[in-house]
Amino acid sequence: MDSFTYLIPYGLEWLNLIVRWLHVITGIAWIGASFYFVWLDNSIRPPASGSELAKKGVSGELWAVHGGGFYNPQKYLVAPAELPKDLHWFKWEAYSTWLSGIALLTIAYYFNAQAMMVDKSVADLSSLQAVGIGIATLVVGWTVYDLLCRSPLGKHDFWFGVVVFVLIVAAAYGLTHVLSGRAAYIHVGALIGTIMVGNVLMLIIPGQRKMVEAMSAGRLPDPVHGQKAKQRSVHNNYFTLPVLFIMISNHYAMTYQNARAWLVLAFIMAAGVSIRHFFNLRHKGRVEWRYPLLGVALLLAVAVAIAPPRPPVAVAADPVAQMQTVTAIVAQRCVSCHAAQPTQPGFATAPAGVVLEQPEQIRQNAERIYKQVVQLKAMPLANLTNMTDAERAQIARWFEAGAK
Ligand code: HEC
Repeated sequence: MDSFTYLIPYGLEWLNLIVRWLHVITGIAWIGASFYFVWLDNSIRPPASGSELAKKGVSGELWAVHGGGFYNPQKYLVAPAELPKDLHWFKWEAYSTWLSGIALLTIAYYFNAQAMMVDKSVADLSSLQAVGIGIATLVVGWTVYDLLCRSPLGKHDFWFGVVVFVLIVAAAYGLTHVLSGRAAYIHVGALIGTIMVGNVLMLIIPGQRKMVEAMSAGRLPDPVHGQKAKQRSVHNNYFTLPVLFIMISNHYAMTYQNARAWLVLAFIMAAGVSIRHFFNLRHKGRVEWRYPLLGVALLLAVAVAIAPPRPPVAVAADPVAQMQTVTAIVAQRCVSCHAAQPTQPGFATAPAGVVLEQPEQIRQNAERIYKQVVQLKAMPLANLTNMTDAERAQIARWFEAGAK
């Protein structure tokens, strides 16, 4: 057995791939269904009063054509007079997205917490502390949100939204001050995702179940269950664009690696909410361009605010000596991971396919190296290999002199 332990990182890489694939698939199924039902809810129109439909208790309907067929969904004000035999529920999309998300969080972050979650320039945590903070964020975050929903504030949609937004930004602020930027972002995303699934599991589905039970017992269902479920469903709708950004954020070190990464995230999330609001209104027939314009303005503002500074004018230097210095720095600080066969525990292959063992490979990747090491300071990952500022400055000078 022992002779196969070297395959563990490689096996984990495959596990990561499969679980990430699953997570994206289930996420699409969930958010896709959610977008569809929000659109449906906002787009249906009441039937003519006194019509057959109105008499049946239908409060809204629409016609749609898709995939070569015509569809005519109808929404009942409370419930149909008789419980249908086959009733479709939408819950496994949500549950499996959360389960695969937590599995991915564990594989990608918790199994390799020193490299993926701890940034010693932020806080010198043990792996256990970092993972503990991550898990506590989800538990405490859900509890606070749920209590707020049930408090009197929960009745004021707009102000509730403002308070929840501020609290999520506060969580981002706190997390970016204890974890690496990347791990902080992903935990804000995991928190939002947990709230969304919590809403489905604890409120929306139980509410629907109570409605169905009442009907089976021959009683008219209490509309309060529908209203409570609706409130959570509206929250989930506004969470979608922010959480989708966070899911892809780990590709954009310029966001999570910024000194005020929490503020960058606040702007991008606000842009997402504003753009989502535009679509919600549009489904109802109101086209209000100020919302997407606000979203674009927020994104532009943050893009300008975090733009890298102009590089200083290069000073002439001996290119051969410069290349030797850079090769030595890279060998010391990068090659443990960026090799065809990395020696860094937990890495099976060169991350992002970037191999930096030969001077030629370093030259080829000059622009990416400059970006990651000088502009973003995203590499070395979590500065695990203790690169100094003087070394970053040397790489900057080498690149600015043409990376020869
Ligand atoms: C502890 C391991 C580790 C060390 C040390 C390390 N890297 Fe990386 N590097 C990674 C990982 C992991 C990724 C993939 C990041 C991702 O998935 O976003 C990466 C990605 C990169 C990329 C590709 C980024 C892109 O998307 O274009 C470059 C370039 C890079 N590293 C350069 C460096 C340089 C230069 C050094 C040394 C100064 C270095 N790395 C040190 C782990 C490491």
